[in-house]
Amino acid sequence: MSSKADIHPGPSSDSTAPGSGTDIAAHADSSGRLATAPAVLGIGAYLPTRVLGNDELARLVETNDAWIRERTGIIERRVSAPGETTADLATRAALAALENAGLAAHDVDLLLVATITGDEAPRATAVRVQHAIGATEATAFDVGLACTGFLAALVTAEQFLRAGGPYQHALVVGVDRLSAITDYSDRDTCVLFGDGAGAVVLGRGEGELLDHEIRVDGGRGDTITTRATRIGPAHAEAPEAKGPYLTMRGREVFRFAVQAFCDRIEQVVQRNGMTLEDLDWIVPHQANQRILEAGARKLGVPMSKVITNVSTRGNTSAASIPIALQEAVADGRVQRGHHIALVAFGGGLSQGVSLLRW
Ligand SMILES: CC(C)(COP(=O)(O)OP(=O)(O)OC[C@H]1O[C@@H](n2cnc3c(N)ncnc32)[C@H](O)[C@@H]1OP(=O)(O)O)[C@@H](O)C(=O)NCCC(=O)NCCS
Repeated sequence: MSSKADIHPGPSSDSTAPGSGTDIAAHADSSGRLATAPAVLGIGAYLPTRVLGNDELARLVETNDAWIRERTGIIERRVSAPGETTADLATRAALAALENAGLAAHDVDLLLVATITGDEAPRATAVRVQHAIGATEATAFDVGLACTGFLAALVTAEQFLRAGGPYQHALVVGVDRLSAITDYSDRDTCVLFGDGAGAVVLGRGEGELLDHEIRVDGGRGDTITTRATRIGPAHAEAPEAKGPYLTMRGREVFRFAVQAFCDRIEQVVQRNGMTLEDLDWIVPHQANQRILEAGARKLGVPMSKVITNVSTRGNTSAASIPIALQEAVADGRVQRGHHIALVAFGGGLSQGVSLLRW
């Protein structure tokens, strides 16, 4: 695994130990800036209403409900309606997160959208969302790192907030409309993916983002890729590619994902002087139930600590972690003070972890 392109800010402060109370960590760094660890102030999610079940897919490709359930744990996924854009999904999640935080759009200073399925080339999805919600004061841009995108956007937003100045509140959205780049004649991939959006509002408050690490290995980039872009062939050897459809070497991705799940959590826990027992929850990227179970087994944590919703959401790429987290907050599993590891892996190849106290 290459480390040259890693983003790793290291432990956030001197109050990273579990049970460090609800004090907000604050200290001056070597440049004299006040480095204050931001917290999640609110969370929201949006799923399109259209349900795509396994039986419907079995009418499109040679597959069946039993195979899909056994190999992936997925029963159904959501897909956007015709005309429903990526920005539409992101906007709904963003508004829900703001409402949950008790803040208004004009309070947002930074709006980041993690996506690989933006609607148009020149205008970032974040810019469309900025306009749609009326966040007129917000700097807005997209972050693209596939299934690790939400964590990459989270760490980016954290750096803005730590720098202080005009940046007091950030809205971070993970959204993907994978149905737009899924080949519904390819049974190897079409059973896995769905659409959705999740968002968090960051600022000063209870809780704390403790540590992050993002790693990429571009040398293995063709493990999950598209043979064409929206504007032409992506590779010289694939000029006949049908569309910007996802292709992948499934078994290789599976092995990579299980290893990434374990490595990232083990390292972040150790680096912060914690043990696995100190983690209340692991919220992984929802790729495949078998990946999550194999990762938990290898790591030695019970599945009761792993939040999963892949059975009804499928893999929604950058949206999967914030959607799963939102559902666990909404139903009361995640409580203030809990220590949570968010862990992601996917296209790039990329992998990342974020450790936080809720
Ligand atoms: C894709 C994945 C579910 C396939 O499961 P698997 O157990 O590895 O299955 P294999 O690829 O070995 O295929 C086994 C057989 O099932 C077939 N098969 C593949 N997709 C099928 C489907 N949807 N329905 C029925 N059969 C299918 C294969 O053609 C193969 O047939 P063969 O033995 O006759 O060649 C699994 O590899 C996976 O989840 N990988 C990770 C994918 C992922 O998460 N990607 C995104 C990461 S962010």
